[in-house]
Amino acid sequence: MIPQAIIALKRDGEPIPAAALRAFVLDYARGDVPDYQMAAFAMATCVNGMSFEEISALTQAMMDSGETLDFGDLSRIAVDKHSTGGIGDKVSLVLAPLAAACGVVVPMISGRGLGLTGGTLDKLESIPGYRTDLSSAEFRQVVNDCGCAITGQTDRLAPADKKLYALRDVTGTVPSIPLITASILCKKLAAGVQCLVLDVKCGSGSFMKTEAEARELAETMVEVGTRSGCRVEALVTEMNRPLGRTVGNALEVAEVVRTLRGEGPSDLVEIALGVGAGMIVVDEVGTDDEERRALLANDLCSGRAFDVFLKMVELQGGDPTFVESPEKLPSAATVESLSSPTSGYVTGVDAAKVGRAAFILGAGRTRREDNVDFAVGVSDLKQVGEPVAKGDSLASIHANATEHLEEARVLLGSSFLIDSSRSEPAALIKEKITNLNLSFDSFSA
Ligand code: URA
Repeated sequence: MIPQAIIALKRDGEPIPAAALRAFVLDYARGDVPDYQMAAFAMATCVNGMSFEEISALTQAMMDSGETLDFGDLSRIAVDKHSTGGIGDKVSLVLAPLAAACGVVVPMISGRGLGLTGGTLDKLESIPGYRTDLSSAEFRQVVNDCGCAITGQTDRLAPADKKLYALRDVTGTVPSIPLITASILCKKLAAGVQCLVLDVKCGSGSFMKTEAEARELAETMVEVGTRSGCRVEALVTEMNRPLGRTVGNALEVAEVVRTLRGEGPSDLVEIALGVGAGMIVVDEVGTDDEERRALLANDLCSGRAFDVFLKMVELQGGDPTFVESPEKLPSAATVESLSSPTSGYVTGVDAAKVGRAAFILGAGRTRREDNVDFAVGVSDLKQVGEPVAKGDSLASIHANATEHLEEARVLLGSSFLIDSSRSEPAALIKEKITNLNLSFDSFSA
């Protein structure tokens, strides 16, 4: 079928045969379909959506457009997690070593941040020497040697997705649940992942603003994952308030180290245990959710997960002394505290405003080619439910340049709601959609 016929089918809301969609995507990856035709197709998909059959075919074709990895010879289940991204979301850095310490392998392909704060790779690059450009052979070796690795997408892994994602970025076609689902899943499947736990954030500090949108993505991921032979669990989690007490690349790495030493903030630990419990289910570790959480909590407190993190950093070229002593990580020229204007209880911390304040300080990037400032951001954030007295610190602001400091200060101040009576924070884990109840054998057949 010629490209314009496929575009016309999508424009008219007609089903596209799987073989035709596959050929279209593979031709695009080879350069035989031009960007303008793929852009028209992406826009028609944004408007008219896709059936599960079409999303599955798109996922499979994008996965098959490049090399695929297989960790089957390690005789441990390959699992991963993916977050749709949120303010202070450093869960991947905690969970890759934590799940590996519990016996699964975690070959994690991550991305850089675009927008409010840095992504997982930006955070890790605040550790001097840490390499995020491992070749496939190096990636395999690190996973083999310590149970996990976190690196960037190579040009050879799902190249159709790399090309299409860049095109979507400049054609207003990123916010499409079918395109997002295929984009995330194809990379995980190409990396050899057999089980994926998805953390779909919802709220002011995330891409999905409403629970309904987040649920739709979660359900689509689980359905297409099942059809693609992957075990998928999706949690819909709270992102109206920041996760943890830090926002900013090096500041978040330091918080990860505290968490891996058993001293993490309770909200970060709760999400890590909730997502992690799904990651280790496939290895028959523990019999129920409670027991798996207890195993994970034990590996946080015992230091086993910390040891795996340290080893992973070292194997990926990073200087482990910066993990052992996080005070050596890049630090800002100015650190000032934001005082509470009144006494009472914190009843809200607007994630979007905190993220924006960190962005103004230099923690995020506007264009892909921009650098982030590892040192800047916000730490010691007071959390919802905590009491404050007038003049107490609500947060510390870490800045390198003074020109945007006042703007960041005002924005951060306006993100806190303080009331005379205490209110319970909203539940962190709102919903769970899963196919993990299906037996592992039914997937490996
Ligand atoms: N992350 C991805 O990898 N792809 C998308 O489409 C959105 C987020």
